[in-house]
Amino acid sequence: MDKLTVAFIGTGRISDLHALAYLDDERADIVAVCDRNRELARMRGRQWGLPEERIFSDYHQLLALPDIDLVEILLPHHLHYQATLDAIAAGKHVSVQKPMALTIAEADAMVAAARDAGLILKVYENFIFYPPVQRAKSLIDNGEIGDPLTIRVKSNSGISPTEWTVPASARAWRLNPEECGGGPLVFDDGHHKFALGWHFMGKAEEVHAWIGRTEVEPGAYLDAPAIVSWKFPGNRFGSLEAVFSPELALDTAHYAQDDRIEITGSKGVIWVTRGHGKMMDVPPVVMYKDRQTRSFSDMPVGWEHSFINSSRHFIDAYFAGEPPQLTGEEGREVLRFALAAQESARSGRAVKL
Ligand SMILES: NC(=O)c1ccc[n+]([C@@H]2O[C@H](COP(=O)([O-])OP(=O)(O)OC[C@H]3O[C@@H](n4cnc5c(N)ncnc54)[C@H](O)[C@@H]3O)[C@@H](O)[C@H]2O)c1
Repeated sequence: MDKLTVAFIGTGRISDLHALAYLDDERADIVAVCDRNRELARMRGRQWGLPEERIFSDYHQLLALPDIDLVEILLPHHLHYQATLDAIAAGKHVSVQKPMALTIAEADAMVAAARDAGLILKVYENFIFYPPVQRAKSLIDNGEIGDPLTIRVKSNSGISPTEWTVPASARAWRLNPEECGGGPLVFDDGHHKFALGWHFMGKAEEVHAWIGRTEVEPGAYLDAPAIVSWKFPGNRFGSLEAVFSPELALDTAHYAQDDRIEITGSKGVIWVTRGHGKMMDVPPVVMYKDRQTRSFSDMPVGWEHSFINSSRHFIDAYFAGEPPQLTGEEGREVLRFALAAQESARSGRAVKL
């Protein structure tokens, strides 16, 4: 069997988790890496078993290699668009991290370029592959809580003595709206929450948002506290509350954040009680129906599993010749959702999609 050969452009913080499934799956190989920080590229390249000639600091050189099937783009957001077009022009399939671009016009051009070249364009979204989220989805798809009527996502950010090290450079571009495309919590991380809304409830038709500002460094702001509400077709609703508490200490192996989801159906309620971290000492999935509460704990809860499952899903889809989640078109819908929240916060009005 031919293997799926994968190259990474951007070997920053999150590349650790991206690489796990490719390193572990015998159907795929990581064959090249690039980061403009050459030392970082070299560190990852060595860690992943690559020879020196497969480690680059200019991604155009990497794209010139003939033996790459898929390029994983893990760059700051303002670079996603051009790097995707360059990779497609070089004949590579592309998996670009979320959000796929800063504007819908860019997203449209990326989708069109991939379609015209007959190549896959995938937007890397992992929250929908987090095992507790997958369990909640299969319970809902089995009709356990009836028709889903509302979704509530709550995201707490704080501080953590156990979090992984995030380089100052990774924080700096996120706090610069021109490079991030919006704020770190509602636009960057919010992409995942909008993807969850889409995953469980379908396309939203209207969005309203209040997005506050919390100064975390002189002149640099987190986009929190924030409340975003969504209207879905058929009298169904959703909301995201994102809040940063500067003295809230969280247990986590990754970011100092924890998320919870509550989905109410016509005959029951499901909670996903954890995400990056663990705030509540309860099972990861809890369901209430028929006057009884049931708990589900038979699944991995480490955050890394959302990445492993997302990449493994792509490898499966690639060899089956099926569309991956998210397709470029689906990523564009989630981006539209995220941009509408920003527009609503600016204008003070609900935005129709
Ligand atoms: N799915 C998730 O949960 C999740 C979590 C974190 C980050 N991400 C996404 O992953 C991407 C990367 O985030 P990160 O946290 O790893 O950031 P990071 O800043 O740690 O990594 C980005 C890397 O890109 C490199 N870079 C910048 N410009 C370059 C260029 N022109 N050529 C080559 N390399 C260049 C930087 O040196 C850096 O190492 C972003 O799109 C982000 O939204 C997703």
